[in-house]
Amino acid sequence: MADSIFSARMDQLRKELEEHNHRYYVLAQPSISDREYDALLEELTQLELENPELVRSDSPTQRVGGAPLEGFETVAHRVPMISLANSYNLEDLQAFVDRLHKLLPAEQFGYILEPKVDGVALSLRYENGILTQALSRGDGRSGDDITANIRTIESIPLRLRGDAPPVLEVRGEVYMPAEGFRRLNREREESGQPPFANPRNSAAGSLKLLDPRQVAKRPLDAVFYAVGDLEGIEFNTHSELLAALGDFGLRRPPKHWSCENFAELEQALNENLEAKGTYPFEMDGAVIKVNQRNLYEELGSTAKSPRWAMAFKYEAEQVETLLRDITIQVGRTGVLTPVAELQPVLVAGTTVSRATLHNWEEMHRKDIRIGDRVIIEKAGEIIPAVVRVVPEHRPADAQPFPLPESCPACGGPVEQREGEVAWRCSNPVCPAKSQSWIKHYVSRRAMDIDSLGEELIKQLLEAELIQDPADLYELAGRRASLLGLERMGAKSVDNLIKGIEESRERDFWRLLHGLGIPQVGEKTAQLLEEAYADLDQLMQAGEEELQSIDGIGPNMAADIVSFFALPDKQLLIQRLREAGVNFSRGEQEEIQESALTGKAVVLTGTLTQMTRNEAKDALTKLGAKVTGSVSSKTDLLIAGESAGSKLAKAEKLGIEIWDEAALLRLLES
Ligand code: IVH
Repeated sequence: MADSIFSARMDQLRKELEEHNHRYYVLAQPSISDREYDALLEELTQLELENPELVRSDSPTQRVGGAPLEGFETVAHRVPMISLANSYNLEDLQAFVDRLHKLLPAEQFGYILEPKVDGVALSLRYENGILTQALSRGDGRSGDDITANIRTIESIPLRLRGDAPPVLEVRGEVYMPAEGFRRLNREREESGQPPFANPRNSAAGSLKLLDPRQVAKRPLDAVFYAVGDLEGIEFNTHSELLAALGDFGLRRPPKHWSCENFAELEQALNENLEAKGTYPFEMDGAVIKVNQRNLYEELGSTAKSPRWAMAFKYEAEQVETLLRDITIQVGRTGVLTPVAELQPVLVAGTTVSRATLHNWEEMHRKDIRIGDRVIIEKAGEIIPAVVRVVPEHRPADAQPFPLPESCPACGGPVEQREGEVAWRCSNPVCPAKSQSWIKHYVSRRAMDIDSLGEELIKQLLEAELIQDPADLYELAGRRASLLGLERMGAKSVDNLIKGIEESRERDFWRLLHGLGIPQVGEKTAQLLEEAYADLDQLMQAGEEELQSIDGIGPNMAADIVSFFALPDKQLLIQRLREAGVNFSRGEQEEIQESALTGKAVVLTGTLTQMTRNEAKDALTKLGAKVTGSVSSKTDLLIAGESAGSKLAKAEKLGIEIWDEAALLRLLES
């Protein structure tokens, strides 16, 4: 009796919470406050705790599952997830329309045009309205079972609304909204993890995590636009299908267009492009589908894609503007880069006033001159580029931009090294070089000294208070001179000095990045940190040894060795050492006896549950010796995802091989 009272109340709470979830996440029209929602959720949670036998897997409290998985199971798709043929211009689109009319001469049909969502493809299976399985695309025939991860996405209903059929498989795309992507990357950078290149990669990476609790923290969302396996339901048209998905409580792309003919498709293509900025996802084109689903079977598919649909990719947006001037930027290694100073124009949603011209060779190849009208292009997140000049509009007196005779910043000599296209300033004390170098040293991805901005660096250089990064640590003893600078009060000076002092404790890889070794970016710096416990060990490494590190090629190895061989760099390093800057990977923790004590272990491939550094630290703590390359002396290879040559070599040598899951099991025990 008591049970049925609880059970009725729990049913009601679940229904109400589902309704509010739908209003909030799918319709974006919440009708109660967060507090009221939390109170309902709390009541349900409490009742479920007291009546565990009444907990249902589709309850709103059950989104984030228990323990991390060991790996994903591969499951066959009941209906393959095939891809779409691409078109890039209106001729391609016309050909698609013509082909359809040729294949179906007697039929009347129309089209639906939708935005193409640049995310990660997903298939959801609902049985009698309950979400039972979520699969990734995989190779199209079978995918990974990522149900536990997908359940954490709040806009995806665990139970469909209304009268659900016995089987409904829906297909769509998981994406990371731009704002969430920026936030996630900020957090990653702050914690020293490499940022994701774009929202698509970060969505894909998130879905590969084995711990749903981690996935729940990732700002993911999804939209649905197609179906797979169906039982007990049919749709006559694609627009009917879209309407039904909405009724079932699934999110769809925010817009779609019904078109009767080519002209209407062209119009819809333009409107979709204009709406780009309003979409919550990255839109990388349009998808055009025949509306009449009864024609699909007759039209059929090629091996790769259906004949009833086609993707359309927009060309990168191009605009014309005036090239007002060309300036020269001096990089931290002295490389001189010509920069186009443009009359500001709006391209792909951002105002562009500067664009790199890369180098003289490139600039002369395109024959770019001051005063030219030029075509600027910007595609998606890509940096704007000058594509070409408009020769008809060239002023009569426009001259090719000459090769640099001297450094524009210091007047010092310039040189072009053998085998390089770049011109460099060869003055070792060029202030512009120093400025770029120090700016790099203090940047967020290197030593992260945020009390030292670009303007202040300029002031310090002009006052000859600094010339290289080591000088920063001597500023504490020059308070009087600092106070003499414009706009520098006692408080700003304290703040500056504090920021610099704190940077002495930064991670070793940050210093390696900040040193400005040619070709060594953030990622390589981290690889070097993994391979070498401290700077002294790294400085002793030869080219061959460096090359044995996965991700370091012969060129880079040579640059690293030559950098440390330069007397002025050795002096700099000596001064940084005296200033107390951290030169090592960190305290070695107490070593525990384990199965791996004394074993030579190599890590390769991508780990999903931890960074390589974390794995390395954990292994070192267990007494293992972690080395960079596989040889007959290696005892164990731990291979993450997409491991390559090291894995092959270990297999050949008959070395024991573990996957990441095996490592995790050992660490947990
Ligand atoms: S329909 C069999 N509609 O783009 C056709 N796909 O390049 C099923 N995509 O495989 C796909 N937005 O992963 C369709 N509005 C949309 C889409 C879309 C993005 C993805 C999908 C597809 C790929 C093809």
